[in-house]
Amino acid sequence: MVAQLTGIFEVKMADEIQESIESEKLDLRLKKVGIGGYRRHFILCVGESCSRGLEPGTAEESWAKLKKLLSEHQITPTPVFRTKCHCLRVCRQGPIGVIYPEGIWYQALNSENVERVVKEHLIENRIVEDLVIAKNPLG
Ligand code: FES
Repeated sequence: MVAQLTGIFEVKMADEIQESIESEKLDLRLKKVGIGGYRRHFILCVGESCSRGLEPGTAEESWAKLKKLLSEHQITPTPVFRTKCHCLRVCRQGPIGVIYPEGIWYQALNSENVERVVKEHLIENRIVEDLVIAKNPLG
């Protein structure tokens, strides 16, 4: 009986240690990607539907440009979290992107326009009105 209880206790301890390790891993991961310090979230669609008719690879080029520029300009107080997705349900005049919390939806985000949005919207806090297709601020 004692051996059985000891076994159960050991299993519980092992589970708690494992949970603690996983929790630490999660904390490290969150810290590594900067969760907790972001002010904006830029979601860019690289799906095929909204980039139909454009040069193949346009959306992926835009994504690469966004990554490069954010890495170069990741300056407080405007750190930006970026996410690549495969559809924002607009599916025309893309690549489509949206920036929160302002909820500014942009069209035609080729790499040249991504550069404009990063410079004007994210760095200079000026919405790039000629690329805007919708505004839906959160909060
Ligand atoms: S594929 Fe880009 S919005 Fe649907």
